[in-house]
Parts: sequence; structure tokens; C-alpha cells
Amino acid sequence: MIRQLVPTQVDPKTAGRDFWSRNHELRRRRHEELRPDDPLDPDDVVEKYMKTPNPFDLQHYYEISRDGVMLSWFHGESVAPANPEYETNKHLLWADAYVRIEERRKGIATGWLPVIARIMDERGSTVVGMNTEQASGHGFLTWLGGKPKMTDVESRLRLSEVDWPMMQRWNEEGARRSPQTRLEIYDGPLPEAMLPEFAAQRTALLNTMPFEDLDIGDIVITPEKIRHYYEVSALTGEVPHEVLTRESDGSISGMTDVSWYPYRHTMLAQQFTGVRPETRGRGLGKWIKAAMLLHLRDLYPDAEWIVTENAGSNAPMLKINRTMGFKPYRTAVEYQTTREQLESRIRSI
Ligand SMILES: CC(C)(COP(=O)(O)OP(=O)(O)OC[C@H]1O[C@@H](n2cnc3c(N)ncnc32)[C@H](O)[C@@H]1OP(=O)(O)O)[C@@H](O)C(=O)NCCC(=O)NCCS
Repeated sequence: MIRQLVPTQVDPKTAGRDFWSRNHELRRRRHEELRPDDPLDPDDVVEKYMKTPNPFDLQHYYEISRDGVMLSWFHGESVAPANPEYETNKHLLWADAYVRIEERRKGIATGWLPVIARIMDERGSTVVGMNTEQASGHGFLTWLGGKPKMTDVESRLRLSEVDWPMMQRWNEEGARRSPQTRLEIYDGPLPEAMLPEFAAQRTALLNTMPFEDLDIGDIVITPEKIRHYYEVSALTGEVPHEVLTRESDGSISGMTDVSWYPYRHTMLAQQFTGVRPETRGRGLGKWIKAAMLLHLRDLYPDAEWIVTENAGSNAPMLKINRTMGFKPYRTAVEYQTTREQLESRIRSI
């Protein structure tokens, strides 16, 4: 029976209502299983994300359905030639699969392997990466021959438990220890004129993040990519916030950004934080994080949580987060496997 289940490619731009109904139903099932305590991304937001053209990343969407019910969903992502990261990332495919609970251990996810192989061959990719926080995912990815390459820790801080006097101290100490440094706060998109300088500094900082043993190419942020992100966030109502520091020569030395989502308004998302290596050790990291938190408390009095993700090995960031009161919430493992290993698994099926 499984053999009759055919993976079908989905184009969100032309997909009909029946597809979206199946897709949202499975998405709800996944959410109930894996994220029961979090708000669900609304259907229209998911549709907007999936329908908005992305010149920088290629999206590969497939479904396996039977009698109008989606049994499994597959999403792959690879870098597009228009992305400045293309040269150093084109060997990588990132993939995600979900099988509804009552259909597991029947070989459905195994059915994705030839699809992954075909995408990899079309894109010239040699390594596929997938992550999981589930026992079933670990079992499947180990069976596939995947190697664990990085741990990703999600941590959460309950805003009612923040030590606000400590945040005030970090904010004041940051300014006192670096009198020549200015702190700037931006709500919503950054001014257009700042984008080239900001993109260049963000690129440099992002590439200092630890990725453990993960095979990953260069990260390249450009003004065009930031504009694209702002276009998508405007469509879905996401509001970005940025706190940064500038040295006396005007150069950006630190940055931290948090997003607010109308459909997740109790849960702020702490995104990237980075401080330039030669300005580390002066309390800039604590300063920008504390200034951001104090600012957000005033802006969003109904926010309850702030959520962040870090590599398990990112000691400096985890130290700051743990001191602020962020507690580990769940840990995912990133696995990667080669095209050859995938082939030998496909031959053994
Ligand atoms: C991981 C997942 C996609 C597997 O789907 P599935 O259709 O049940 O997988 P298959 O039946 O094709 O399993 C193939 C092999 O993987 C291994 N495997 C799968 N699930 C496993 C489990 N729960 N425990 C141990 N091994 C498992 C087995 O070796 C299995 O072969 P076998 O059943 O003959 O022993 C599914 O459990 C799921 O959706 N989990 C939640 C989401 C997730 O973590 N996804 C991560 C992968 S991107």
C-alpha cells in the first residue's frame, strides 16, 4: 500500500484551496504534537511566507497524501544562484520532514529519500542537513546514516522573573565602561542609508558564530537581502527591533535584534546578538541585551516570554543568557549526511 503513495511536488503560488486545507490540517497536528504550548502560526501568515517569491533561497515543497489527507510533508531549501552565499553553500541542502503520528514506521519518510537524492543531483548538492528534537527523528536520522554535527539549545526567559535592577545595572555599566561608545535603538526597519554599513558588519559578526562540526558555507548579508526580509515582515506584521553600539569612529561594534509578531504577541523572539571581536570584554554584549530588554518592557507590556536559540557550545552567549535568567527549554540536534550515504541507504530499501 505504501508503494502506491507518490510524493507530489507543490507550488504554493498555484496550489488550490484543497491543498491548503490538507496542509494546514497536518500543520495543526504537528503543532499539537511538537509545540502544544506555543501559539500556532496563522494560516494566512504561512500562506504569505510560502507564496512570496524569494530570490535568494530555493524552496522545494512536496506532499504525500491519500484520500484528501496529507500523511507527510517535506520541505527542502537550497541556496539560489542569485544569493551571494551561492559559491560556498551550493553543496548543501537543508531538509525537514514530518509524518503524521498514526502513519509512522510504515516507511513513509523512507519515500522521501529518492526525492532528496533527485533535488541534490539537480542542485549539485553533496550534503543534506536535517534537525530534530524528537526520539523518532533521532532514530530515523541515525538509520539514514546522518552524523550529529551541532546542538541547538532553545532557551526562554519569563519576563515576570527578570531581575530588572540587574538589567538597569548592565545598562548603566555598559555606558560607563565605554564612554566613547553610543547606543542606538531602532523600532521597525532600519533607515535605508544605514543598510550597506549594517549589512557588512552583520556579515562579519554572523561569521564569528560557532557552528560546531556543521558543514556550512559563508553567511553573506546584503542590503537587498535585508530589504527582502523587511518586505516579508511587512506582509505578516512582524516588527523588527535593533539595538546597536557605535565606536567613536562611527563604526558599529555590537548589535542585537528582537522580533515581535502580532500572532505571537506574548512571545518575543531574540534573534542574533554579536559584538566585534576587538571590542569584546567591555560589557557591550550585556549592555545591548539589557537595553533591548528594558526597551521592550516599555513597548510590549503584555509580552510574557523572550525566546532564543544558541549553539550548545556558544559559551559567551549562553553565559549572558543564563545570567539574565534564560532557561534551557529544548535541544535540537543538526544531522548531516552525504549524497553517497543517502545512495547506499536508498539501495538497501
Ligand atoms: C522522523 C519521521 C519523519 C520518520 O517517519 P516514518 O515514516 O515513521 O519513518 P520510516 O517508517 O520511513 O522509518 C525508516 C527507518 O527509520 C528508523 N526510525 C524511524 N522512526 C523511528 C523511531 N521512532 N525510533 C527508532 N528508529 C526509527 C527505523 O530504522 C525505520 O526503519 P524500520 O521501521 O524498518 O525499523 C517521523 O517520526 C516524524 O515525523 N517525526 C517528527 C518530526 C521530526 O523529528 N522530523 C525529523 C526528521 S527531518
